[in-house]
Amino acid sequence: MTVLLKQMLAPVHDALAELQEAAEDNRRQGNNLICKGVVKSAPGGKKVIIDIGENTTPPIPFMLPAAGITSHYRCPSPGEIAIVLNFGTGDDFSSCVALCGLFSDSFPFPTENPDEVLTVFGDKAFQKVDIPSGKMTFHAAGGVEFVNTPEVKNTDGEMADKVRPMSGDREIYDGHDHQGDSGGKTGSANQKQGG
Ligand SMILES: [Fe+2]
Repeated sequence: MTVLLKQMLAPVHDALAELQEAAEDNRRQGNNLICKGVVKSAPGGKKVIIDIGENTTPPIPFMLPAAGITSHYRCPSPGEIAIVLNFGTGDDFSSCVALCGLFSDSFPFPTENPDEVLTVFGDKAFQKVDIPSGKMTFHAAGGVEFVNTPEVKNTDGEMADKVRPMSGDREIYDGHDHQGDSGGKTGSANQKQGG
């Protein structure tokens, strides 16, 4: 009787074992589907290695704000938080991509003013827009260079350096005179720079 029962239940037993195996596969895959980790390094600047708990991914791609005709590149920093999406299966991290861009204790918000749009480039450069006033601020400790830019225009405003605005220079030029060799002064400039 027991033998007969075993024979009858054998297919059921096998089916259950298969189901259990499939469930285990799903569980393992599900566990690693979306992980939170920390950027360990960025070899070559084109991929990142992420520490996820005890595990470490191989070099995997990281997502950027734009990567088409308009593209934007910046290399994730070691210590940044990364969300790792796994398009593969199981414990294999080789087909993962990393999403960076979450602030953390290591990399806190560079501003707490919601009216500002601020991009900080290390500690020597930033660009900032104050949305209510429309004022843009650039800081570039290393200088600003325009490449292949035929002309820089300011159509309806003033340009200035640390001494004075350009209108001040024009005023000086238009009024300036010269001490002649004989001691007399020449008249002021005939060709005015003032607009
Ligand atoms: Fe002159």
